Amino acid sequence: MLSCGKSLMPDNLFPIPLKAPLTYNALMQMEYLDMSVNEILRLFPLGGRLERVCKKDVEINGLTIPKDTVVMIPPSILHRIPEYWPEPEEFRPERFSKENKEMMDPYVYLPFGAGPRNCIGMRFALLSMKVAIASLLQNFTFRPCKETQVRNPDLHLKTQGKNSNQGNITGQKGEESG
Ligand code: HEM
Repeated sequence: MLSCGKSLMPDNLFPIPLKAPLTYNALMQMEYLDMSVNEILRLFPLGGRLERVCKKDVEINGLTIPKDTVVMIPPSILHRIPEYWPEPEEFRPERFSKENKEMMDPYVYLPFGAGPRNCIGMRFALLSMKVAIASLLQNFTFRPCKETQVRNPDLHLKTQGKNSNQGNITGQKGEESG
C-alpha cells in the first residue's frame, strides 16, 4: 500500500461503497486492510523491545537463565528474520492472509507483545488504525510524487545476545553485521 506502485488500493480493500459510513462491521470485513495493518506493524513495530524478568532459574535450549535476569525481546529483529519472513524488507500484506496466519509462529510476531502482560489496548488500537486508514483512503487518492522519499530497503540490524543462535541479521545485500 505504501510502495511505489500505480494502484495503491487493491480492489478488495473496500467491499463497501466509498462514501458508505465506516461501521464496525464494515471495517471487520476489510480483510486486506487488516492484512496491511498487520504488515505495517511487522515492519514498524512501535514497541521496540519487550522485557520480562525471570521468576526462577530456567533452562531453554541449553542456556540457563538465572532467576531475576531481565530478558529483552526485540520484536523489530524477530519481525525481519528471513527464515520466518521471506524477503523481510518487502511490504507484503499476503503474509497475513487467513491461511498464512494459521501457520505463523505467534512468538515471531509481537507488535502487541504476548502473554498475560500483552497490550490491553490492542483491539482498540487496531480498530483506530483501520478507521484512520480507511477514511483517508475513502477521501483521498495516494500517489508517489517526485518528492516522495523511498525508504532504503538496505537495512542492517544488529543483535547480539547470549542465546542468539541467529547471531546477526543482515539486510538484503547480506553484508556482515555485528
Ligand atoms: C498501535 C498501537 C499500540 C501498540 C503497537 C501497542 C503495543 C504495546 C506493547 C508492545 C506492549 C507491551 C506488551 C508486552 O510486554 O507483552 C503494550 C502494553 C500496554 N499497552 Fe499498548 N499498544 C498500542 C496501543 C495501546 C492503547 C490504545 C492502549 C490503551 C487504550 C494501550 C495500553 C497498553 C497497556 C495498559 C499496556 C501494559 C499492559 C501490562 O503491562 O499488563 N496500548 N502495548
